[in-house]
Amino acid sequence: MRISPAAAGLLKERDSGTLCKHVRDIKTLWPPRCVEALCLLFTRHGDTALWLQRSEPMKFEKGRGVIARYRDFLPISDKGPVISLGEGDTPLIHCPELSKRIGRGCDVFVKNEGVNPTGSFKDRGMTVAVSKAIERCAHVLICASTGNTSASAAAYAAKAGISCAVILPAGKIASGKLLQAFAYGAKIIAVEANFDDALRIVRELGERGDFVIVNSINPDRIAGQKTAAFEIADEIGDAPDFHVLPVGNAGNITAYWAGYRGYHSQGRSRTLPVMLGFQAAGAAPIFHNRIIEQPETIASAIRIGNPASWKQARAAIGESRGAVDVVTDEEILAAQMWLARHEGIFVEPASAAAIAGLFKCCDENKAVYSFRKIPEGSRIVCTVTGHGLKDPDVIMERMRELKPVAANLDAVRRAIEL
Ligand code: F0G
Repeated sequence: MRISPAAAGLLKERDSGTLCKHVRDIKTLWPPRCVEALCLLFTRHGDTALWLQRSEPMKFEKGRGVIARYRDFLPISDKGPVISLGEGDTPLIHCPELSKRIGRGCDVFVKNEGVNPTGSFKDRGMTVAVSKAIERCAHVLICASTGNTSASAAAYAAKAGISCAVILPAGKIASGKLLQAFAYGAKIIAVEANFDDALRIVRELGERGDFVIVNSINPDRIAGQKTAAFEIADEIGDAPDFHVLPVGNAGNITAYWAGYRGYHSQGRSRTLPVMLGFQAAGAAPIFHNRIIEQPETIASAIRIGNPASWKQARAAIGESRGAVDVVTDEEILAAQMWLARHEGIFVEPASAAAIAGLFKCCDENKAVYSFRKIPEGSRIVCTVTGHGLKDPDVIMERMRELKPVAANLDAVRRAIEL
């Protein structure tokens, strides 16, 4: 067993007399080492493996993560281990250009989840799911993914010092996300199937008890993702009037609605938002109310034909008097470029579905939910879920090949063309 000098010192100080017993016991335990960075140590009393938390108070207030900030609202006890990469506390950006598109004195804010540690909103749920998995002495995490869940699971598994297997639809994962899973050391398994089939396999593997599933069918994931709603309500002083977001496996819309409802029932906010979910036109099972066997969209993150949280998403939409609608791939890519060039926020295509959806709501004739008659001064939040650098391939194709110019002022001025 490896125990860092710091951890050993801490143990001697606080547990003099018991250290030898602990160390002897720990030798038989998995994982066979102390997780040094967190100063956590496994020990065993009888048959029950417990975590002894030897952590000192956090050194810095900033970047402590969503469990530290919202522990009272999460299924994490005071003594539970915390595996965090400093997720959450993402910017809620007021967007004047987007607000102008809506008009009527409305304010549009973008909740930029792309600045989480692994570049997507998944980290909020993953910190809770992996912390709980460690508390239950998990050996291996497993997930199916369209890319972001796998990147996040791999990172938090690395931080916790446990293994992670990710089951991915072959050839359908954006390059940045695949690269992340590899870099964080996950076991990557590409299957000749789509996401829905991959999730079915993962469910079956999870039933055998060898793996802890960290897809959003794990309630700890949903619990963690609720914190985005808490942050928004805390920042603007109430829930927004409308919340617009992309929908794939439908965990996020479920989590936001649960978060807003939870805050409302505790008197932390006075109102509840109208939830507006957008699916890609070629992968829109909730919109069409039927399973899509061969979902297809450029927004590979939401290329899902049979969402796990379908029922919960329907409930969120129904209870909030919201709507689900579709946006085409062309609308998604146009919105992605628009947001980057007008508001300076670069998001991946799946995230741009929320912005494309917002634009669609301005078009009374096409939208399921029109913004034409919403109250003046409404506050609208759009969640953008993942960073643009994760999925650079489409934009790379559009870029003209860069031809070098001579290294003199005239040539460079001519090339600038301004
Ligand atoms: N946006 C991005 C960037 C995503 O990665 C996902 C889902 C969604 C939106 C949709 O969220 O599934 O909660 O409705 N990605 C999952 C994954 C499926 O495996 O990374 P949802």
